[in-house]
Amino acid sequence: MSIHFDEANLTSAMIGEAHGLTIGEVKKSEKAALSALESFKKQVDAGTYGFPHLPFDKAMIKAVSEHAKAKAGSYDTVCVVGIGGSALGAWALSCAMRGPHPVQGAFSTKFPRLVILDNVDPMFVEDAIATMTPKKTHVVVIAKSGATAESVSVFMILKAWLEKALGKKAAANVTVVTSEGTGDLKVLATREKYTTFHLPANVGGRFSVLSAVGLVPAALTGIDIKKLCQGAAEMTSLSWKADLSVNLALRAAQLHHLTWTLKGKTIQVAFPYSNRLWGTAAWFQQLWAESLGKAKNRQGVVVNTGQTPVGALGTTDQHSQVQLYMEGPADKVFTFWAVGKFAKKGAIPKAKIGLEGFDYLAGQTLEKLITAERLATAAALTEQQRPNCTVTLDKVDEWHLGAFLQMMEFQTAFVGELLDINAFDQDGVELGKKFTFALMGRKGFDDYADRFAEYERRQFRARKG
Ligand code: PA5
Repeated sequence: MSIHFDEANLTSAMIGEAHGLTIGEVKKSEKAALSALESFKKQVDAGTYGFPHLPFDKAMIKAVSEHAKAKAGSYDTVCVVGIGGSALGAWALSCAMRGPHPVQGAFSTKFPRLVILDNVDPMFVEDAIATMTPKKTHVVVIAKSGATAESVSVFMILKAWLEKALGKKAAANVTVVTSEGTGDLKVLATREKYTTFHLPANVGGRFSVLSAVGLVPAALTGIDIKKLCQGAAEMTSLSWKADLSVNLALRAAQLHHLTWTLKGKTIQVAFPYSNRLWGTAAWFQQLWAESLGKAKNRQGVVVNTGQTPVGALGTTDQHSQVQLYMEGPADKVFTFWAVGKFAKKGAIPKAKIGLEGFDYLAGQTLEKLITAERLATAAALTEQQRPNCTVTLDKVDEWHLGAFLQMMEFQTAFVGELLDINAFDQDGVELGKKFTFALMGRKGFDDYADRFAEYERRQFRARKG
């Protein structure tokens, strides 16, 4: 495995017992970690949760690859319409493999470009559409529920935009990813004869990056989805091993759970030192927040648990966040995401300028500098007794990315087991969705319209004092 987990700076030997884990604390929790593995395995074997099976779904990988091959050359832009788990995986993959900022399309000289419409800010949507031509745009609309207001509304705009220009041929420029049995998107896809891929019912949005949800946009934009799934498959095999010295996801879950619950670190900072992993940080924030932020445990006891994920980009955020991280509340644990070998080195010219502030850098590389900055930040945080650990990807390619995404998903599932919560539901987002339906006049949501009206009345009274 060419992904490594360095836990040294989480230990009391490095940061003292108040913030760091003692050998005794770690030893004592090994049994619970192994039970978490066993319990999660049982649920996966029973078919309750499906993400571990995704990288082995050869038929899906083949079908998506063939679809991408058939469509190749017919578009210069892939426009993903989706939100949350239906968009962030595509963003993570594109950012890592093709360069940052897929929405803006900056930096990548490669076509097709990827535009991700994961919001209903009218300016964002209209400005993005203004950069695309219907004939050369392939729209991928993704919604597990088939009913998310944001995705449905933006797709309605794009559908009309395509049809105005292309008439009956518009359907060829649309691919749908949704659940097989439910939702109006599936009904529309059948009616319009859109090419459709299905998301297994036992795979939740934020765990779906290696299903058609992430694979379709990836394949259409030239990412090698076979290698991605190979890396993920290898990590899956490792993640089922009942051995904490080799099972990276389980070991990381065990130590993060302890650092959080024993040492009070309620904020998890994901700190990639690579712009290519910035999209993955956005993806991870959703995974960690929605999976572990829960009102009740599995016994129905109110626990209001959750560890707040924060993304920080090295080195950029050293000049923005690190002051807080060093001297602010001792409530954070940091996970550096390091790259062993960058594909480009960023050579700094050898020629000296004659000024010390410049000349020590002459002949070195940006790769060496970003690595030194990461090591320096880890050392500085450690001196301040701030727990931190490092996950290193030997390089950023499809294989490593697939393995890393799968490691994070297993780690999240294992922490969920250790907390005895259901990491796979998201009841907390439902109420807001229902209020939105009521406000937009959707049939069947009158109760929520009444509740919202009552909320507004209370607000009115509160403002009057
Ligand atoms: O993780 C999840 O399940 C959610 O974040 C969903 O991905 C998000 O709400 C979008 O749902 P849908 O795919 O149904 O549009």
